[in-house]
Amino acid sequence: MTSFFSCPVCGNPLTGDKTLKCENNHSYDKNKHGYVNLLMSNAASSKRHGDDRLMVQARTEFLEKGYYAPVREALTNTLLAHASQNMRILDAGCGECWYTAHFAQALNDFAPQIAGVDISKDALRQGAKRGMKQLAVASTAKLPVASESCQAVLNIFSPPELAEFHRVLSPDGVLIRALPMENHLLGLKQAVYDNALLNPVPVTDISGYVLLDATPVHYRITMNHSSDIWNLFTMTPYYYKTGKADQDKLRNLDTLSTEIEIIVLTYKKA
Ligand SMILES: C[S@@+](CC[C@H](N)C(=O)[O-])C[C@H]1O[C@@H](n2cnc3c(N)ncnc32)[C@H](O)[C@@H]1O
Ligand SMILES: [Zn+2]
Repeated sequence: MTSFFSCPVCGNPLTGDKTLKCENNHSYDKNKHGYVNLLMSNAASSKRHGDDRLMVQARTEFLEKGYYAPVREALTNTLLAHASQNMRILDAGCGECWYTAHFAQALNDFAPQIAGVDISKDALRQGAKRGMKQLAVASTAKLPVASESCQAVLNIFSPPELAEFHRVLSPDGVLIRALPMENHLLGLKQAVYDNALLNPVPVTDISGYVLLDATPVHYRITMNHSSDIWNLFTMTPYYYKTGKADQDKLRNLDTLSTEIEIIVLTYKKA
């Protein structure tokens, strides 16, 4: 069985099911959870471990509640608009595959090959539980994926390694990104900080790509459980940047309303 991934040592295709091997006999075992580790231990990126267990658990619980369903729907529709038979889709920084697993279902008629990479083992463990079969620990900065082999690369709130995404995209492939806009999570920030700032407007003009489409997704959510509020906070970078006194303001809240403002951007190679 041919794997989605290529050997991180020599770049040759990997084949196999439980153990993936290249023609040079470099081999990688899928672990009992169902993902394979293709992160080179000497890579500088290996010092970064991505999201930890606490963040992963918070995000898993929060996403399960459906607050981000309109974002996922917009991404699904964008992907469907570019779907082709047997297309190869890479979710770069897939997290726990709440989006990825849904794409697999929605595109079922196209029999796509869908793979996810993330640097967080905790996230991939959840991804495997969602039924994803092609999952690898790797850095988005050095993808274990053949050049020009993907018809779609997804960059959903994950590190923007745009040159590496460009390398793995096929000439007719699309890069689909989800980025936070100015008002994203403003209500959450206002509940924590005295002087909540708007997010910077993302740069949409990126070198080597042509923008095909920009779809804004803007709505308001109201959370009526303190655990939802706490999970949303914990899954954001604000959690680690906020002192205990400010964190405690949220712990005592039972209800919170906040804006969700995302943009879904679709690019092709220039
Ligand atoms: C905000 S989360 C988004 C996850 C998922 N795309 C979602 O939206 O649910 C960012 C993800 O990027 C991963 N990540 C961070 N740095 C990474 C890197 N260098 N390579 C691969 N993944 C990375 C984190 O572990 C985390 O799962
Ligand atoms: Zn090899």
